[in-house]
Amino acid sequence: MKTSKETSQALVEKDQRNIWHHMSKYDSKREPMITTKAKGSWITDHNGNKYLDGMSGLWCVNVGYGREELAQAAYDQLKEMSYTSMSQSHLPAIKLAEKLNEMLNDEYMIFYSNSGSDANEVAFKVARQYHQQNGESLRYKFISRYRAYHGGSLGALAATGQSIRKYKYEPLTSGFLHVAPPDNYRRPEGQSIEEYNLQRAHEIEEKIVWEQKETIAAVIMEPVITGGGVLIPHPVYVEKVQEICNRHGVLLIIDEVICGFGRTGRTFGHMHYDIKPDIITMAKGLTSAYLPLSVTAVRKDIYESFNNTEENSHFRHVNTFGGNPAACAVALKNIEIMERENLTNRAAVLGEKLRDGLKELESHPYVGDIRNQGFVMGIEMVEDKTTKEPATEQRVGKIIADCKANGLIIGKNGDTVAGYNNILALCPPLSSTDEDLDFIVSIIKKVFKENGS
Ligand SMILES: Cc1ncc(COP(=O)(O)O)c(C=O)c1O
Repeated sequence: MKTSKETSQALVEKDQRNIWHHMSKYDSKREPMITTKAKGSWITDHNGNKYLDGMSGLWCVNVGYGREELAQAAYDQLKEMSYTSMSQSHLPAIKLAEKLNEMLNDEYMIFYSNSGSDANEVAFKVARQYHQQNGESLRYKFISRYRAYHGGSLGALAATGQSIRKYKYEPLTSGFLHVAPPDNYRRPEGQSIEEYNLQRAHEIEEKIVWEQKETIAAVIMEPVITGGGVLIPHPVYVEKVQEICNRHGVLLIIDEVICGFGRTGRTFGHMHYDIKPDIITMAKGLTSAYLPLSVTAVRKDIYESFNNTEENSHFRHVNTFGGNPAACAVALKNIEIMERENLTNRAAVLGEKLRDGLKELESHPYVGDIRNQGFVMGIEMVEDKTTKEPATEQRVGKIIADCKANGLIIGKNGDTVAGYNNILALCPPLSSTDEDLDFIVSIIKKVFKENGS
């Protein structure tokens, strides 16, 4: 819908007067993009401008926009039975839990919440209580990685390793420790990727031992650090971390909030590695963000430790909206679409094509590294290819603005850690067509060419 100039101005003014926007600097004159329509990989703003959404919203609209089947699934369910709390049950929740276990190839207990942050909070509470009920009540600490994002609530933010997002909100929940993640592009010269990744994994073991292993509840990590700069580990890292966790009685929580549901070219990101997480959290792609829903999948044997008749031994956590019937119905339909259209495989194919299409950027003076796993890509911009000095905010911002001026929305790892907000991000819908992909490649190449000196 294109609005008249007057209506458009009035909308902007109302927005400026009433809405406090997420992650935005104070600017009373800021004109947000007001999206009025979206179909496939494309969104249209209130002035009628069309953009290819190269970020799938916030890394979430995996099956693309405007799927009538998803709207219908929500409508049908809301008419039939709109609400029941998850202290009881309903049909879509039961079907979805069964489906998720089929996708996970194992038996997990499915706990429903609303957001990725919620799902991680549940994981932390389950882990602490599990250890207590297992006779290891000192295990309360969590280890996560610098540069990773795990959510905005005080516990999930404590797990987050991005100091800029924590600054001025501290002190956060206590008991969260951080180690450096593998950043293969910036590994010490002369060290092989494998050696370097094993060393990074060893730092987790060191942390566990130095902190007294009997105080460590769990390690939490994304299979690929996505929002923190698309940092892709070598498989030896992830597999070593699992082995270390097993050896020290530490649980492994895998945050699949972005990596899940086909994004990396596998059903779940951790399926690239030979690991078996104890707890898996998911959100975003679960419903392709058509409705809010998240899941904390907990291994059956952990759940069994709650089979205890002592007072307060049950998991005393509730949220009103988690497992909403319409959201579960949408998730089921969303997964059906993914399977029918083979979108996980499509993610792998599109990722390769994107990589090939952007190959010539490797020699661009301000491109240090291009990396992807499936259809999530990071382009690390530098001032100098030899020193790897991170590109300035202005240089990175100019590429993003020029892409937008050419009809392509791309992202970056904004507000993460000082000095390293220099990585462009691409995470388009997995349903993108070949023409969409050609468009993305052509605009990025054009914009980099115009910003070559
Ligand atoms: C890896 C990861 N975990 C957790 C979250 C938090 O999810 P939500 O914004 O739904 O709370 C995010 C959000 O971007 C995320 O990227």
